[in-house]
Order: sequence, then C-alpha cells, then structure tokens
Amino acid sequence: NTRAGLDLKALIRTIPDYPKPGVLFRDVTTLLANPAGLRASIDELIWPFLGAPLDHVAGIEARGFILGGAVAHELGRGFVPIRKKGKLPYATIGQDYELEYGVDTVEIHADAIGPGDKVLLVDDLVATGGTADAAIDLIRKSGGEVVAACFVIDLPDLGGAERLRRKGVTVHTLLAFE
Ligand code: PRP
Ligand code: HPA
Repeated sequence: NTRAGLDLKALIRTIPDYPKPGVLFRDVTTLLANPAGLRASIDELIWPFLGAPLDHVAGIEARGFILGGAVAHELGRGFVPIRKKGKLPYATIGQDYELEYGVDTVEIHADAIGPGDKVLLVDDLVATGGTADAAIDLIRKSGGEVVAACFVIDLPDLGGAERLRRKGVTVHTLLAFE
C-alpha cells in the first residue's frame, strides 16, 4: 500500500487471453482513470528523485507519455518523447529491439539530450525489458546518462528489471505481478 493508504495493485485490471491466448494482460488504464490512484502513482514514482540532479524526464510511447509527462511536471523538468519509428519530425537517432516475432525501432530527436545530461526514464510496465533497453541505448547514444528507469508495474518472471540492472541502470518499480 502507498503512504496514502491506497492499494494501487487493486486498481490494475487483468485481462485474460489478451492480446493472445494464455497471456494475462495487466491493464494500467483503470489505475490512470482513478484520481487518487493516478496521484499516488506519480508520488511513488518520483520520491527517490526529489532533489536529485536531473536534466530531463524521458517517456516511452504510448503509456510512458502519460506517466512521464506527469513525472516531468512534478519534478520541474522538461519531457523528452521516445517514439516508435517514423513519428518524430526532426532528425532522429534510432535503436532496433527484439519483439517476440521480428524487430521494432524506437527513436529520439537527435538534439533532445545533450552530452552529460542526466535523464530519468519512465514507462508504465517492464516485461522483457527490450523496449526500455533500447530507450536506454538511445539516451546513451545521445551522450546522456540514465539516472534511473522507473515503472509502475514489473513482471519479474520475464526478467526485464534484472536485464536493465545488468546494464548498470537503477530500476524503481511500484508493483510486481507474477
Ligand atoms: C508495452 C509497455 C512497454 C513495453 C514493455 O508497450 O507499455 O513499453 O510493452 O514490454 P517489454 O519490457 O517486453 O519491452 P507496447 O509495446 O505494447 O506499446 P504501446 O504502449 O504503444 O501500446
Ligand atoms: N500489460 C501491458 N503491457 C504489456 C504487458 C502487460 O501485461 N506485457 C507486455 N507488455
């Protein structure tokens, strides 16, 4: 439970067999739609970084934009979008990552992060860690330093948080679902 006494886990909806049979999909939209749930989530995401040296908050499309925007606002920093390929209008840097079948690419604007800039990465959920791993590579290719990666939900059986820690990144998560 949060310091506000709220059970965030109870606000996550679980959908069986989405997007395919056998998967238990953890749906964060029910948490985002709950006023106290949204506020407590942002409070819990930011507390380790209050007063930390930080230049930007980066969020991963699409659900990482919702949480990352609120985190950036609360921490008094600007927001940097990390998007799926082809969505950003200016010059970009890209990074491929593995999906279950095939590859996808995430991109960042080439001038969004300066050399030595300290960046907090935000997304809703870490599963295999493939998406966040690629986002970390983008920040590092830009010359930035990833201060930490934070997520509302960790699926520890899929090993993503451990994968990111092995890359030398501090990982902060709020809820774990087996
Ligand atoms: C989901 C989630 C993370 C990623 C986690 O996004 O929001 O970004 O998957 O999975 P991973 O740790 O195995 O990489 P999705 O790719 O479904 O994109 P969306 O937010 O645009 O729907
Ligand atoms: N929920 C939301 N996004 C996801 C999940 C999930 O259970 N698994 C991989 N990405």
